[in-house]
Amino acid sequence: MKFSSFGERFINDTGIKDLVDDLGKYAGIEGTCMLGGGNPALIPEVNEVWRKRMTDILENGSQYQKMMGLYGTSIGSLKFFDALAELLHNQYGWPVTGKNIAVINGSQTSCFLLYNMLAGKMADGTKGRILLPLMPEYIGYADQTIDPGSFVSFRPGINEYAPNMFKYQVDFDRIDITGVNAITASRPTNPTGNVLTDVEVGRLSELAAEHDIPLILDNAYGLPFPGIIFEDVKPVWNENIVLSMSLSKIGLPATRTGIIVAKEEMIEALSAMSAVASLAPSGVGQEIVLPMLKDGSILDISREIVMPYYRSKSEQTIKYIKERFDGIEYSIHKSEGAIFLWLWFKNLQCGSVDLYNRLKNRGVIIVPGDYFFFGLPEEDEAWEHRHQCIRVNYSGDFAEVSRGLDIIAEEVEKG
Ligand SMILES: Cc1ncc(COP(=O)(O)O)c(C=O)c1O
Repeated sequence: MKFSSFGERFINDTGIKDLVDDLGKYAGIEGTCMLGGGNPALIPEVNEVWRKRMTDILENGSQYQKMMGLYGTSIGSLKFFDALAELLHNQYGWPVTGKNIAVINGSQTSCFLLYNMLAGKMADGTKGRILLPLMPEYIGYADQTIDPGSFVSFRPGINEYAPNMFKYQVDFDRIDITGVNAITASRPTNPTGNVLTDVEVGRLSELAAEHDIPLILDNAYGLPFPGIIFEDVKPVWNENIVLSMSLSKIGLPATRTGIIVAKEEMIEALSAMSAVASLAPSGVGQEIVLPMLKDGSILDISREIVMPYYRSKSEQTIKYIKERFDGIEYSIHKSEGAIFLWLWFKNLQCGSVDLYNRLKNRGVIIVPGDYFFFGLPEEDEAWEHRHQCIRVNYSGDFAEVSRGLDIIAEEVEKG
């Protein structure tokens, strides 16, 4: 079989494919500690809410028929747009209407469409790039651009603010915006749990506006839902910000519901691209959450169940690490949101990929940190930090997480 250059670009091994493969291969094998992928926790109270909604829809014949039997527009349902716009307006005062909203089949696909719309070969022959202001960043972006090498990024500042604790900061002195067509960051950040401060977001937003390029904020874990943020920060939107949201981390990943909030010109562009790529998004997630957008109960679930669940898991896991890793040279990134802990082992001689393979042989699945550093200048190849970190999903059963951490500690001690 012959593949096009587009085909060749995407069929080769990618970090994200390895990660998804590991999830499928090892899930369900007795004794395996699954600390790798980005599956949200199955929170019983939240599951019950979705199950009840599904039952109500099934019992209402016409609602079910419309949800399953009809396409919406190429970017979703008008009822959903209006309900979400009203909620965002009421909650944050943002000047959004239904015309500022699009639904795409999962926020992974939203990013694919956005990055390829903005980066790569431009009509004038130049190359447009996407700037990632804070490395490390989400592994799932790394291979998304059809034109390889379209991401540029810079080393962060590292603030070791307490014993065994640190936080990455955007190093604005390093940032070079030449040839950049968009700035993008996940907030909270996958993999580190970092949340860009309000000041950092303000400066990035100004930088983007000055250069007339969009700031794409990936809000998959952020406010108002699922709201997995432990810091008191402000969600922001303006006409220059493209806010990417998702229903995945509030417990509905299988509905593949990504949401974009952006100026109308961007929504129209996405609508055209989405029609070609997928005709229309799934309507299932939209229908499930619609009444909860209207009555605001999606905010209560986020605030009262989802966020406290993850915060308590994160605290419990950090406490365990502090006890178990005593005597090991380690540092934990400040846990400000999302569902991961990011661990830095300064004395790790073997590198994170080797550590990952050794852990896998012992039934512990994590994600090696190397994959999350991309787009950096060549001279940063030698930056040791990028080979010394791992990502751990802390959201599962604590017995499994702590058993996995015991084995991580043993392997790290071996060097
Ligand atoms: C930062 C970030 N963005 C986007 C996604 C994609 O999520 P989905 O396509 O399920 O909306 C994920 C998934 O883990 C993520 O962590």
